Amino acid sequence: MDKFLIQGGQPLEGRIAASGAKNSALPVLAACLLTAEKVTLDRIPQVRDIATMERLLKHAGAQVTRRNGQVTVDAATIAHPEAPYEVVKTMRASSLVLGPLVARCGRARVSLPGGCAIGARPINLHVAGLERLGAVVRQEHGYIEAEAPHGLTGAEVTFDRISVTGTEDLLMAAVLARGETVIHNAACEPEVADVAALLIKMGARIEGAGTSTIRVQGVDRLHGTPPGTAHAIIPDRIEAGTFLIAGALTAGDLTVTDCEPEHLRALIAKLNEAGAEVTEPAQGQGRSIRVRSKGKLKSVDMTTQEHPGFPTDLQAQFMALMTQADGIAMITETIFENRFMHVQELARMGANIRLEGRRALVAGPTRLSGAQVIASDLRASASLVLAALAAAGETLIDRVYHIDRGYEKIEAKLAGVGARIKRVK
Ligand code: EPU
Repeated sequence: MDKFLIQGGQPLEGRIAASGAKNSALPVLAACLLTAEKVTLDRIPQVRDIATMERLLKHAGAQVTRRNGQVTVDAATIAHPEAPYEVVKTMRASSLVLGPLVARCGRARVSLPGGCAIGARPINLHVAGLERLGAVVRQEHGYIEAEAPHGLTGAEVTFDRISVTGTEDLLMAAVLARGETVIHNAACEPEVADVAALLIKMGARIEGAGTSTIRVQGVDRLHGTPPGTAHAIIPDRIEAGTFLIAGALTAGDLTVTDCEPEHLRALIAKLNEAGAEVTEPAQGQGRSIRVRSKGKLKSVDMTTQEHPGFPTDLQAQFMALMTQADGIAMITETIFENRFMHVQELARMGANIRLEGRRALVAGPTRLSGAQVIASDLRASASLVLAALAAAGETLIDRVYHIDRGYEKIEAKLAGVGARIKRVK
């Protein structure tokens, strides 16, 4: 199993580019199952979760090819409308194929995801939404079996709570349903809007994606992306945010390029409040964000929320930052019930953190020192990398396959701005 060896204490300086968003690429790839024509996508990151989703598409019968940085999916025929346990157990987002497969094939069989390091993560909201569109759903042998032999029918759906992939799954089903679907209490994440943008290019009729009410007029069929064109997915706001926090944490001067500041307003506000200087320099192509810090940071409280609130996917990284800030920061996690697995590992590096249910009280600044630590999930691993960059001495992070699920070439990118980080086999 690969490990990262990191020598801390080096300020990060220079320019670092964000890749395409993993959490956009996943539903966008699933959406390719909705048409028999070819769909070409640009900026799909090469990370392990994407390889898993590509495996799922191939299992269903689609051809997936990568050329010149673009991915083309050809789902002309779908032989197996299912997502087997072997794949789903490694990636919960596999449930994103449920909606597209029922809508296109009239049936789907998707393994139920088990528990996960960050919480229970059920898919009851996905199922309830599909049932509202007329699918008959059974649970058997650890699988969800959904059927709609005569097609789906549009309906009003109000989600009990906001779910990102739940919204995406239902949206992908609704585009081929008969008549109008209205999704209330929809997730407003930029990734939802991105999937909708692709679906619209494929001929879907959608209004309001990116807001809490989405209206869909079903169509009979969708087409591929027009020949010679590709849908470029949005930049990864969580990766970009992780780099911004790294810049502030190492008292560096870092410019994150190819990102979208509008998707990162909550983090930018918190970084400014903590005393880092964040600007948005004009740039030729794409947009960028520069963060500078002299190393004197103030503690600020933070509560995770659905977009446009502070993303839960940056909570662990922000906690690493708060270990270096003066005062006590209260960090409240409201999205997942068990997303504090990084706390014990940060404590092993010298952090002073007290857990009280869904709250963590981080007292700082503390001197972090390198240690051997274990990555427990994707974003927890990222927070350990950040802590290691700020720590005195050497840190060895085990189980970095977690980080490989969602960060493209992270060690090469960080080394490019001065980090001393090596992958060891
Ligand atoms: N929930 C239910 N029932 C459901 C679905 C969700 O109770 O059917 C609960 C969850 O247990 C959670 C809350 O609703 O407590 C919100 O979960 P959501 O469904 O929004 O999460 P998700 O769609 O499974 C996506 C991202 C996550 C990110 C969350 C929250 C993808 C592929 N995954 O997950 O990303 O943390 O939204 O923003 O888009 C990551 O990238 O590291 C990651 C975990």
